[in-house]
Amino acid sequence: MTRMHITTRLNGDETDFLCEPHQTLLDVLRDELELTGTKEGCGTGDCGACSVTLDGRLVCSCLTLAAEVQGRSVGTVEGVAGPEGLHPIQQKLLEHAGLQCGVCTPGIVVAAKALLEREPDPSEREVRFWLAGNLCRCTGYDKIIRAILDAAAEIRNPPEAGAPA
Ligand code: FES
Ligand code: FES
Repeated sequence: MTRMHITTRLNGDETDFLCEPHQTLLDVLRDELELTGTKEGCGTGDCGACSVTLDGRLVCSCLTLAAEVQGRSVGTVEGVAGPEGLHPIQQKLLEHAGLQCGVCTPGIVVAAKALLEREPDPSEREVRFWLAGNLCRCTGYDKIIRAILDAAAEIRNPPEAGAPA
């Protein structure tokens, strides 16, 4: 089958790749582009482990054809941390022990970041509702929710440089 040549903006960088017409974005990210942070939990849109953003909108990469990203902008967990270090969501997940096996974590990080970009001061209910599509078999969710609320608070009121944590 003829492979398609796709050009996209991936985590801010112009990127191109070849794919089969039926290939999912998840498979291309992991198998062609070696971005294995995005996980496959189910492959059927049920678990959220494969969450990425497409033009800023949260999508399941297992339900998105790779060809659909032509000319668009894709964000994966690899683009979340900055040169200065972990994103506050990542840091707070560590501090609150909001992960165990870690399979759900990249999807939760991407989903939570998308939430906080839309709503910087979400209620606990809003965080729980937003993450309803991200399943975690390990943590019981509570630590994840606390971590995201804490990260939101820190993003709104960043600690001053040099101040004790
Ligand atoms: S792998 Fe995509 S939703 Fe589970
Ligand atoms: S930490 Fe194991 S699935 Fe969430």
